[in-house]
Amino acid sequence: MLDQPHRTPAEPSLDEKALAKALSGQHFIAGRFVAARSGKTFDVVNPATGEVIGQAAEGDAADVEAAVQDADRAQKDWAKMPSRKRGALVSQCAALLNQHKEELARLIALETGKALRTESRVEAGAVADIFEMYGGLGGELKGESVPFAPNVLSVTVREPLGVVGAIIPWNVPMLLMALKVAPALVAGNTVVVKSAEEAPLTVLRICELLNRVLPPGCFNMLSGFGPECGGPLVQHKLVKKVTFTGSVEVGRIIAKGAAEKLVPVTLELGGKSPMIVFADCDFDKTVMGAITSMRFTRQGQSCTAASRIYVERPIYQRFVDAMAAKVDAMVMGDPLDEKTDIGTIISDEQFAKVKGFIDEGLATSGATGRACSAMPEDPALKKGLFIQPYIFTDLANESRLVQEEIFGPVTVVFPFDDAEKVLADANGTDYGLAASLWTNNLTLGLDLANRLEAGLVQINQNLVVQANLSYGGVKSSGLGKEASLESMLEHFMHKKTIMVNYAS
Ligand code: NAI
Ligand code: MG
Repeated sequence: MLDQPHRTPAEPSLDEKALAKALSGQHFIAGRFVAARSGKTFDVVNPATGEVIGQAAEGDAADVEAAVQDADRAQKDWAKMPSRKRGALVSQCAALLNQHKEELARLIALETGKALRTESRVEAGAVADIFEMYGGLGGELKGESVPFAPNVLSVTVREPLGVVGAIIPWNVPMLLMALKVAPALVAGNTVVVKSAEEAPLTVLRICELLNRVLPPGCFNMLSGFGPECGGPLVQHKLVKKVTFTGSVEVGRIIAKGAAEKLVPVTLELGGKSPMIVFADCDFDKTVMGAITSMRFTRQGQSCTAASRIYVERPIYQRFVDAMAAKVDAMVMGDPLDEKTDIGTIISDEQFAKVKGFIDEGLATSGATGRACSAMPEDPALKKGLFIQPYIFTDLANESRLVQEEIFGPVTVVFPFDDAEKVLADANGTDYGLAASLWTNNLTLGLDLANRLEAGLVQINQNLVVQANLSYGGVKSSGLGKEASLESMLEHFMHKKTIMVNYAS
């Protein structure tokens, strides 16, 4: 074992750079920091400056083997613990996360370039909220009694699945991890997380913190690349459930891996979420709604971003102009600066991908792309991955910018005249994660909400995932749900039927 002494502070630390260094180069297995078996590491980069802020352990099959074996050993005792006791420990985790909220917010801002005030603090708060919610549900792992025949008692009991393998992305890594880890633990499973290569440090800090409360081996974390570290985790025979958030392409690979072993899989795979605005909406509220729905503050790197906005023709031009003016007024800059509204793109790879979409839009004949907000002037940020938000108009519905997930600060606005036609366009992509409708005519709004192909439809608001509300897509946006009591019961447990014949 290549054990390393804990170099991380016990108390919340607001020195995010020192914390990033202290967390460097390690996995967290069975309650301890350990280096990769191969000794390899890779750099973690601050996307706002291009500076290397630390290293991550480069995990492979040997590290997966160690982590899964330990998680499997720990699972036996964890599952025996009364479920309300497990819930109480997860509630203690929530309290600890709350104490470390500002620390985690600063560290994630450094690591991912997400603005502290508008994004990172919000994420840190939501993480604690998810743990708190699931911590309170330990007593809800109930089965049923089922009428079968006289003198036969027939009941179902719920049992955990075993070791859960969780693979997470970089855009909201703490929250997306919490949605998997908290219910898996309360249900009596243990977890091995494979973090995203772009954002391995903050989630590692969370893992370390929670291990102060949880028995060793219940919550383990590996960093590394997808095929080399995520692949063996999916394939490991002791991993009895796989849960993933990320791209459709990798989602398919993971579903195939789980199918080989015949274990259940949950997939959350992004979207191309429509926002439909009727002329009778509350105009100012809806313009602000478009800005927040598009997650411009996160450079649009959100699976629920309102990347297609359909506006009823009488207010169309005024709406586009008002949106552009609002985005123009937003400040793009140092993610850790309180004045900053908009941070950076995560990586060179995503930067190139988003730029490619923008260039394609600008080169489309007849289309208009309006660049909003100003690039930061601070010379320290000159290597930063900042992209000006773009509002495109006059693009065809078949355009790649309208059909594919861009995962950047790019939205396309269309005028519409007819509710049936706009519904068909809104449903006309492969995705089906989220949608929003903006109207004061609730009869119309509810009718369309029922016919939109999406896992989450909101009228006159467009919030991100919320604790206690079922979340997850249809079509290519995924399989299975997260964030609710039912998702814990259905996706992290199985039901066993027990029958007792007591006829004399
Ligand atoms: P990705 O799907 O490649 O990565 C997500 C996670 O999967 C990472 O931890 C990665 O290491 C892992 N992974 C990659 N290949 C794997 C494999 N063969 N086996 C096991 N694990 C594997 O996403 P990426 O490359 O970061 O972003 C590409 C696009 O995916 C984005 O532009 C966006 O459109 C979409 N995306 C959607 C997200 C969502 O919230 N649904 C989050 C992140 C990306
Ligand atoms: Mg990828």
